[in-house]
Amino acid sequence: MVELAPSILSADFARLADEVAAAECGGGSVIHVDVMDGHFVPNITLGPPIVKSLRKYTKLPLDCHLMIENPDQFIPDFAEAGANWVSVHYEACRHLHRSLELIAQHGMEPAVVINPATSVDLLIPVLGMVHHVLVMSVNPGFGGQKFIPYSLSKLRRLKELRQELGLSYRIEVDGGVAHDTVSRVVEAGAELLVAGNAVFGAGHAERDARSLLDAARRAAKLAA
Ligand code: DX5
Ligand code: ZN
Repeated sequence: MVELAPSILSADFARLADEVAAAECGGGSVIHVDVMDGHFVPNITLGPPIVKSLRKYTKLPLDCHLMIENPDQFIPDFAEAGANWVSVHYEACRHLHRSLELIAQHGMEPAVVINPATSVDLLIPVLGMVHHVLVMSVNPGFGGQKFIPYSLSKLRRLKELRQELGLSYRIEVDGGVAHDTVSRVVEAGAELLVAGNAVFGAGHAERDARSLLDAARRAAKLAA
């Protein structure tokens, strides 16, 4: 089943609770939270205190995408704040297996993310431990960037590997997902669609979440 994960990166941070509620009314079923530290990526956003506040306003899973160095150091804080899913970058983890175990030990769903220049096959040893794999379809750091078409082959490869290895991880895509790309990512195998600018960019989160999700569902039906 295809699901929409609105990314609050493009929301109005001063009206976060309302923005999240609107995206939820429009059919968003996971809230994607982009955590950036100014080191792993060239931007700074938010951390556990905002997750803790958000937790009071939504029951949807909070999908925390950690674009930070030393993620292990902060995993307990995200658990405490009420995060449900935590994804760490392959490129940021010296001991990826240990980081994924740590997330699970704290009662959250572990996930791994790869940058556009990282190959899916490098993840084979950990695919059995993750709730989902996140394919970055832009270089992480900013919302509103252009979708990198090569990402489609990574989504296809993940779908193929899941079948071959008999696993059940879900396939998530993040970056440049909008009306002009949504059918291609769904056809290629993405099931969790992160979208920031396409949902929040125009200031009509409910309307724009709904129309993007409708387009995704149409594509999923055609692909089935
Ligand atoms: C980028 C973030 C994304 C971002 C996507 O580093 O990980 O989640 O919000 O934004 P859009 O959908 O605008 O490309
Ligand atoms: Zn993200």
